[in-house]
Amino acid sequence: MLEVTNLTKAFGSGSNKLHVLKGVDMTIKPGEMVALMGPSGSGKSTLLNIIGGLLAGDEGSITLNERTYGKKGPAGVVDVRRDLVGWIFQDFHLLDNLSAVDNVAMALELSGVASKEAELMATTALEKVGLGDRMQFIPDQLSGGQQQRVAIARAIAGNRPVLLADEPTGNLDIASGKEVLQLFKDLCHDPVNPIAILMVTHDPDLASNADRMLLLRDGRTEASDIRSAWGLDVDGGEEE
Ligand SMILES: Nc1ncnc2c1ncn2[C@@H]1O[C@H](COP(=O)(O)OP(=O)(O)O)[C@@H](O)[C@H]1O
Ligand SMILES: [Mg+2]
Repeated sequence: MLEVTNLTKAFGSGSNKLHVLKGVDMTIKPGEMVALMGPSGSGKSTLLNIIGGLLAGDEGSITLNERTYGKKGPAGVVDVRRDLVGWIFQDFHLLDNLSAVDNVAMALELSGVASKEAELMATTALEKVGLGDRMQFIPDQLSGGQQQRVAIARAIAGNRPVLLADEPTGNLDIASGKEVLQLFKDLCHDPVNPIAILMVTHDPDLASNADRMLLLRDGRTEASDIRSAWGLDVDGGEEE
């Protein structure tokens, strides 16, 4: 359902041209939670940004459900950002002065959902992430892990089929990071409405808990296992 085919992306020009993605091929199905690893600067965020409709690729294509894109700039994929892909960032990106429920509802309202319905959907999403008793709390009154769960509620509230998470546990302690990962797995493996999650992480322990690991190296993705993931830390990923 998410299919990336021969995707390339370079930055700069002339002798300064930097070829970041050199032909990425990958497929993710509903119900799959995939961890994306790779050295710093290998292009993980670039790949997510293109899939998420925040950046145009140079060549190749992305098919998500019935939609095909990849070379269109952000203005050409408004519908991808609005309907198809939810984002989760390392630093949560919540609005400080809004309650949990309003943070989630506002994102829905921006995408065109009427206020009343947005509040209902936000409530449902917050219950789903285990924050049913924290609806009216503002971010400062929540722990880091709880704030990230509000961000996850925001990402799932619009029933988007794919979540992109760029180092979602980077600002969390180990226990909260594990909780977020378990929540991701529960969302992916939901028998009624399974979604797909592509998560960038530097933590091999978390990555090994995903359904599958991909390694981005030399501009391409390859299947990975726990040994090579650990090898990344030790010797720059040269191990098979
Ligand atoms: N907008 C940009 N302009 C120029 N270079 C960029 C831009 N975005 C990313 N890069 C470069 O592309 C490479 C990959 O970056 P990134 O995707 O952020 O890597 P990662 O997320 O794996 O650390 C880096 O060398 C980075 O400096
Ligand atoms: Mg990055």
